[in-house]
Amino acid sequence: MADKFKLNGSLTKLSSYPQWAQTMVESCEPSRKRVRDHAVWDMMCDATIDNHTMRNFMLGTWPLIERFPSYMANSLMKTRYGRSPGDDLARRWLVRNIRVEQNHAEYWLDWADGAGVDRQDVLTSTPPQGTQLAADWCEEVCESDSLVAGMAATNYAIEGVTGEWSQKVYESAAYAASVSPSGRKATLRWLQMHAAYDDTHPWEALEIICALMGNAPDPGEIEHVRECIERSYVSLYYGLERCLVHSREHEPRDAACM
Ligand SMILES: [Fe+2]
Repeated sequence: MADKFKLNGSLTKLSSYPQWAQTMVESCEPSRKRVRDHAVWDMMCDATIDNHTMRNFMLGTWPLIERFPSYMANSLMKTRYGRSPGDDLARRWLVRNIRVEQNHAEYWLDWADGAGVDRQDVLTSTPPQGTQLAADWCEEVCESDSLVAGMAATNYAIEGVTGEWSQKVYESAAYAASVSPSGRKATLRWLQMHAAYDDTHPWEALEIICALMGNAPDPGEIEHVRECIERSYVSLYYGLERCLVHSREHEPRDAACM
């Protein structure tokens, strides 16, 4: 097959991927940047985040964290061993990485606890309206769309940008200093696990996407996968925006008039 993709160069360099993939990734960059540069991370990094925004963030993001292995399980169910090299690569990768996700929900609850949001609150409360957009989108795409669309939306887009913001917050000395020293290691573990340093998962996901689509996919298929990646960034962005809106709503009325 002339259009079969084989990684040509470093896994973590965009130039190793086919031109269509490079163009697709570059065209999503503005949306990715809006997530990566969101004010919520600045508030965390400066240790100025208020309790309401933090609670909205912890509760609103929880469904995405908790369901993430289920999205991957849905993708795994779409693979068929021996059908194509892309299927085989996806199957092997998903089986291995669902296990990696095993403790991440627990680490999220440890972060919530350390950030002053009780784990029972996270487990039992309804997320603030509009904050769980990304979780619902990932569920929809991994349940109902193609293998490549689901992996592009979750393992490539969501994990990729999460690695970037996690690294920023994890590196913040002010944020680390703002949490209790006794539980600091546990509080920061989720961030540490997701910080991008050596995390090659999103790149591996891109390699799988290219293996599934080949060097010369149909332009309509490229556009569909591009849209799925874009939707993930946009839903994360508006989810974060809702965290801020809800915190503004909690401000005392006269404070707002000052
Ligand atoms: Fe995770």
